[in-house]
Amino acid sequence: MSADTDAVKPSSASAPRAGSPVLKLEDVHKLFGDNHVLKGVDLTVDAHEVVVVIGASGSGKSTLMRTINLIEQVDDGRILLSGDDITEVRVDVDRVRARIGVVFQHFNLFPHMSVIDNVTLAARQVHKVPAAQARARGVELLTRFGLGEKVDTYPDQLSGGQQQRVAIVRAILTDPELLLLDEITSALDPMLVGEVLDLVRSLKDGGSTILMATHEMHFARSVADRVVFMHQGRILEEGPPEQIFGAPREAATQEFLARIMQR
Ligand SMILES: Nc1ncnc2c1ncn2[C@@H]1O[C@H](COP(=O)(O)OP(=O)(O)OP(=O)(O)O)[C@@H](O)[C@H]1O
Ligand SMILES: [Mg+2]
Repeated sequence: MSADTDAVKPSSASAPRAGSPVLKLEDVHKLFGDNHVLKGVDLTVDAHEVVVVIGASGSGKSTLMRTINLIEQVDDGRILLSGDDITEVRVDVDRVRARIGVVFQHFNLFPHMSVIDNVTLAARQVHKVPAAQARARGVELLTRFGLGEKVDTYPDQLSGGQQQRVAIVRAILTDPELLLLDEITSALDPMLVGEVLDLVRSLKDGGSTILMATHEMHFARSVADRVVFMHQGRILEEGPPEQIFGAPREAATQEFLARIMQR
């Protein structure tokens, strides 16, 4: 591990409780009307583990991510974050979200705010980190990830890849227990995908705990500790990347991989 990635290790303040996985889903169901989108998902993500979710469009990957971030309410089952039941009715949604770093497909940076203000907003407003301290941390991380010159510019002056890297820096600034990355490269020009994936790889090397949905199979294969194949709202198969990509057991997994690898 290089000294470079040390500062993105989870701090002791956000270190997962001994004995509990960072994330545990137990028999999670989600319906939209009569569309039963998640049909009993069980999933565990351990500390420092990178779990990559693959599966056809509509299989439920984003819905799964959104239930973890409490954007969608589960209809049955429960979700534990470092042992805490976050699907319990009395839970403080904002406090849960403050423990999770999220990056989705569309960058969602605030256009009227500078890069550094975007990156430090949650730290200042939610975590009450003093502005100077938040700025110092933001500048440090932006510099580490090749964005040192962009600290005081605005999102529309950045490429898509740079914007997405800023969104990742924003997500990691407060050392979240878990990072949720949903199709973070799918809106990007193919030329810009690599720089974003390189950043994810360095977060992995730094010890971050990551749950990521992607259509980038080569990346999934090289960075995942475990790959989860979702099919029609269920986890049909999971295992180390060598097994899922090299010797998938289920016919649906084989068909999906054959189709996506042809593209
Ligand atoms: N807010 C919503 N309201 C109603 N239906 C929804 C909503 N969000 C998702 N769905 C439905 O849930 C199903 C799963 O969608 P989801 O976005 O989770 O798939 P996905 O695996 O992320 O697909 P993709 O690879 O295209 O991103 C789809 O049938 C979708 O239409
Ligand atoms: Mg999706």
